Amino acid sequence: MQFSDVIRKQRAIRDFAHQFIDRTTIERLIGSAILAPSAMNLQPWAFAVVADRQKVDEFAKRAKEWLLTTLSTTSYEPSLRHMLENPNFSVFYHAPALVLVMAKASGTQAAEDCCLAAENFMLAARDEGLGTCWIGFARPWLDLPSIKAELGLPEQYHVVAPIIFGYPKEWPESPGRNPAEIHWLAENTSDYVRGADTVSAGHGGTTKKLSADRGDAGPVKLTVHCRCKKNFEVEYLNYQSILGSQVKCCQCGREKIITQINAEDVWPADARARCA
Ligand SMILES: Cc1cc2nc3c(=O)[nH]c(=O)nc-3n(C[C@H](O)[C@H](O)[C@H](O)COP(=O)(O)O)c2cc1C
Repeated sequence: MQFSDVIRKQRAIRDFAHQFIDRTTIERLIGSAILAPSAMNLQPWAFAVVADRQKVDEFAKRAKEWLLTTLSTTSYEPSLRHMLENPNFSVFYHAPALVLVMAKASGTQAAEDCCLAAENFMLAARDEGLGTCWIGFARPWLDLPSIKAELGLPEQYHVVAPIIFGYPKEWPESPGRNPAEIHWLAENTSDYVRGADTVSAGHGGTTKKLSADRGDAGPVKLTVHCRCKKNFEVEYLNYQSILGSQVKCCQCGREKIITQINAEDVWPADARARCA
């Protein structure tokens, strides 16, 4: 998958197919996780893997029981009690596998480093067609000294990211994201032009949403609204070739790279262009 697709199509998966995940695959994902950067390159992470649905279910049951008894003492919303009291609710959603990303040191920035490793793991999984879901809900239980002792994990290790994973039954729609709140504190506009260039995507001039999953074919026409007020059209053979492409304004000669599409899985009516 293209990297931009991996990011856009990453979803929290809570419904898994009954499909085994082999050790080589899991080791490959962990291999991607440890490519994450870390403060002073300390790489303060360790991983624990449960590749057995029954065991994951057993942990889910115990974590749920513990959460029900301790909920009032934690920072979780009391409304979560309702969810926990549902007999059909499993904190690990009957996933076939669970990985714990653990911080080996409590000082420095070990937790931050582990979060980056966790994200790498999830994106690498998405790239391979595997679904993941970070289950923060279960973290306090997994981090109990008694549980770590039972699992044979060093007591000083700190569970940062419990991530369930497996082959998804389906890829759900994105729940969406709020627009980014950006505070531009400084910007040198002499070598980077931002903002006014926008692009409309459409088939034959009419704006149309193009879904990567539907495999919409081209030709796709883009209308580029240049900062110099000139609107010009560019035609592509297919939509896959749009992102990263370079276009040139026929009036002012500015070159732009189509860099950003402002929607999940869909080419929206307006994208952003950046002057090259
Ligand atoms: C730190 C963290 C903790 C999370 N904890 C839970 C959890 O306990 N249970 C759960 O079902 N999903 C959990 N999620 C998944 C989020 O609910 C999910 O990523 C979010 O709703 C956005 O959905 P998306 O990832 O499909 O875009 C967690 C995600 C993060 C990053």
